[in-house]
Amino acid sequence: MDKFIITGETRLQGEVNISGAKNAALAIIPAAILAEDVCRIENIPNITDVTAITRILSDLGARIRVVDQSTIEVDPRKIHSHVASYELARHIRASYYLLGALLGRFSHAVVTMPGGCDFGVRPIDQHLKGFAALGAEYSLEGGMVDVHAAELKGDQIYLDVVSVGATVNIMLAAVRAKGVTVIENAAREPHIVDLANFLNTMGADVRGAGTDVIKIYGVERLHGATYSIIPDQIEAGTYMVAAAATAGNVLIKNVIPKHLESISAKLEEMGVEIEEYDDSIRVRRTGPLHKCNIKTMPHPGFPTDMQPQIAVLLSIAQGTSIINEGVWDNRFRYVEELRRMGAQISVDGKIAVVEGVDHLNAAPVKVTDLRAGAAMMIAALCAHGTSQVEDIQYIERGYEDIEGKLRALGAEIRRVSVFDPAPVARVV
Ligand code: UD1
Repeated sequence: MDKFIITGETRLQGEVNISGAKNAALAIIPAAILAEDVCRIENIPNITDVTAITRILSDLGARIRVVDQSTIEVDPRKIHSHVASYELARHIRASYYLLGALLGRFSHAVVTMPGGCDFGVRPIDQHLKGFAALGAEYSLEGGMVDVHAAELKGDQIYLDVVSVGATVNIMLAAVRAKGVTVIENAAREPHIVDLANFLNTMGADVRGAGTDVIKIYGVERLHGATYSIIPDQIEAGTYMVAAAATAGNVLIKNVIPKHLESISAKLEEMGVEIEEYDDSIRVRRTGPLHKCNIKTMPHPGFPTDMQPQIAVLLSIAQGTSIINEGVWDNRFRYVEELRRMGAQISVDGKIAVVEGVDHLNAAPVKVTDLRAGAAMMIAALCAHGTSQVEDIQYIERGYEDIEGKLRALGAEIRRVSVFDPAPVARVV
C-alpha cells in the first residue's frame, strides 16, 4: 500500500483538467449491458472503481476493449451469466446497478448487497420497491439479492426518499419493460441526466431526467451507441476547495459550471472569488475565510460528497460554522483524523460544529473513505509542516491521478510505497 507525503502551505496555482464523472461512469458502463451491440464510452475516468466495474462485466461475458486511457468499448453480446461475482462486486457500491441492468436485459439478476464507503446502513428497499412495481419478485439470502420477473411491465413508483441508486436502478430495469414507468420523487443529480442521455442515445425513450418526475416509455430493444461522459462535479469541487484552502488561484477546466453552483455559492459566502466561464471556473482567494453553515442535500442542494472537503475549509475559517449532514447517518468518521491536525470540530449525530483555527498542523493521518481522503489531502496541503496521508487506496477509487494534478499546480507531494514489515519466521 502507498501513502502520500505532502508538505503544506504552498499556494496552488495554474490549471487543472477535470476527468469524466465517476458516478456517471459507474451507472453508464453497466447500462451498456442493455444494448444489443457495442457501446463506445468516452471520457471515462481512470480510477479503480471503473476498473472494478469493467472486471465484473468481463466476468459476466462482456468484451471490454480499452481504446485509449479514457475510452472503452463494451460488447455485451456474449454475456452468458446474470450472476455477478461476489468477490468482484462486494467492494463497490455501484455493483448494485447490475441488478437493474441484468434484470432489464435478462429478467433475472443475482448480485451481492452494496459495498463501497461505510457511512452506516445502506438500504436498498426503494430499489426493491421499484423492481416489485415493475412485476419482479426478489429474495435476499446470504448477502445476495436475487431478483427475477416473468415479464417487466411499467408502473408508477413513488420513492419515499430521494435516492440516486434507486432512481438509476429503476431506470435501468424499466427502459425495456412493456408500457410506461413513472418515477416520482426521483433524484435529480447530473449523473441521472447523463444516464438518461446515454440510454436515449441507445434508442430508449426516457423523459424528464433532471426533474423529480421521470417517465420511461419502454422500448423493445436498445442498439449500440457512442457517448461521452460529463465532467466530474465532485472532482471539480474538490480542486475548488483545495485552491481556496491554500489561498491559491486555479483555473479548473472541463467543467459544467451549472453543476457547481451549490459549491460556488458556499465558497463565495466564505469570501472566495469565483469566475465562471463556458466550461471552466477560476477560484482565487486573497483574503481570510469567513464562517458559513452547510446542509448536505440531494441535488441541487450541497452534495454530501463535498462535506468532508468543505469541513477542512471551515476549520481554517474565522468563526464557528455548523455542518448538517442531511443524507447519511455516519459521515463524520474522518473528523478524528482532522482533529489530529488541530481542527476543532465536535460532532453530535448528523451535526458537526466547526470552530475555526488560525492554521492546521501537519500530522500522520489515515484515510477512512474516498471523499474523506480528498479532505485529508486538502488539510495536508494547507497545514504547517509535512503530513503523511495513509490508506490512499480509497482516494484512487474516485480521483484520477490526484498526485500528478496537484503537483502540476505546485503542490509538494510524493508517493511512497509502504511495505508490510511483518517479520517472516525463517524455517531451517
Ligand atoms: C448517495 C448520494 C450521492 C453520493 C453517494 C456517495 C444523495 C441523494 N445521494 O448516493 O450524491 O454520490 O451517496 O456518497 O445525495 N436510502 C433508503 N433506501 C434506499 C436507498 C437509499 O432509505 O433504498 C437512503 C440512504 O440510506 C440515504 C439516502 O437514501 O440516506 C440517499 O441514498 P442514495 O441516494 O440511494 O445513495 P447513493 O446512490 O449511494
